[in-house]
Amino acid sequence: RLRDSGALLRVAPVAAAEQSAQNASAARLQSVGALAGGIAHDFNNLLTAISGSAEAALSRDPDGPAAPELRQVMESAARGAALVRQLLAFARQQAMNPRVVELNDAVAAMGGLLKRLLGSRVRLSVELEQPGRRVRIDPTQLDQVIMNLALNARDAMPDGGSLRIATGHAVVLHPEPLGAEELPPGRYAVLEVGDSGAGIPPDLLPRIFDPFFTTKRDQGGSGLGLSTVHGIVRQSGGFIAAESRVGEGTTFRIWLPRHEGTSDSPPPAEPPPAVVAPKPAEAREGRTILLVEDEPALLSLAERALRRAGFDVLPAASAEDALELLEKGAPTPIALVSDVVMPGMDGLALAAKLRERDPDLPVLLVSGYAEVALGRDLEAERLKLLPKPYALADLVAELRAILPRKRAEVS
Ligand SMILES: Nc1ncnc2c1ncn2[C@@H]1O[C@H](COP(=O)(O)OP(=O)(O)OP(=O)(O)O)[C@@H](O)[C@H]1O
Ligand SMILES: [Mg+2]
Repeated sequence: RLRDSGALLRVAPVAAAEQSAQNASAARLQSVGALAGGIAHDFNNLLTAISGSAEAALSRDPDGPAAPELRQVMESAARGAALVRQLLAFARQQAMNPRVVELNDAVAAMGGLLKRLLGSRVRLSVELEQPGRRVRIDPTQLDQVIMNLALNARDAMPDGGSLRIATGHAVVLHPEPLGAEELPPGRYAVLEVGDSGAGIPPDLLPRIFDPFFTTKRDQGGSGLGLSTVHGIVRQSGGFIAAESRVGEGTTFRIWLPRHEGTSDSPPPAEPPPAVVAPKPAEAREGRTILLVEDEPALLSLAERALRRAGFDVLPAASAEDALELLEKGAPTPIALVSDVVMPGMDGLALAAKLRERDPDLPVLLVSGYAEVALGRDLEAERLKLLPKPYALADLVAELRAILPRKRAEVS
């Protein structure tokens, strides 16, 4: 059962009408999320092409007359990319970088920043349960979650009050209703953020996670804070719920699946023992990179960047084209750089296919979709992911990083 949370307010049983309103709002959230995800995906491609072109022009003539404008283009594209990341967070498709994190350490590390943020009129108390629990989450996103919740709490306490951040754990034996969702059985680390602020009226409570829902339009609220939090939590396999009483305060509780292992990821499967037959890896000579991307503008940009970095490039507009080129005797690539989401065979399938012949082939995947959205543990599969949009310089750097030393020195 859930850990008893002492001072926490309990949720009243959800009435049937409210339940169906919550279902409707969950459906709305999902469709907005799907829409945003689709748009964001296309935007990522466009932004990569825009900033990549500017970057290429700038590197050709760094002190030329157009340099300041080109830098402005790159800066604006970067701002656009940040917006897209926010959209993707609640579309649950944000490319993320999950690691094993000590929840207590992450919360403690935010303490100083939160104190400054909350000002002197809000008393901050941090209660860390021992022993601490580990969770697997992108640490930057975890910070973002705590920050958004703390900022909302501050806004709800204009005359001061108290903010309590606590960690704990829960072992859930039976599915537990959580608003429109359900908390499945499992072992969780729990994070609570509770304030003594204005509270949320019951009729608004089901809407707070909706994108763009805000009661702070006048103060410049975007209504994206909680939908971002919700997206991050769900993307990390967790759950979130809010309890509130008008005039008493609000508590957000987050359940994150506990990471039981000790190491960061399961050790990669041992490669099969060396055999007598010549390893295909040894056939990999030269400096040819197989580059697969279905977006023509991105394909030619990336191709130019790689060539400028000293590589030979075998460009292909699809996985099928790539395989055909290789069958027809194109040079054996020393690495694969591929988009993940493409019509036809996707980048993951292509990588698997190529590794049948060349198990050590370095693979760099480029995608706006998250590892969880792909449903794979990329680290265990020795696949490196570069989120879109990317800077051309990063593409080259990431590629060099996965090449064996000798090859990386190509220039
Ligand atoms: N701790 C809280 N106490 C009272 N109301 C809250 C609290 N947290 C969220 N809310 C309500 O939920 C709404 C949505 O919150 P959300 O963080 O998504 O957007 P916002 O804070 O209005 O804007 P933004 O975070 O984009 O600046 C808020 O406008 C507020 O009405
Ligand atoms: Mg907010």
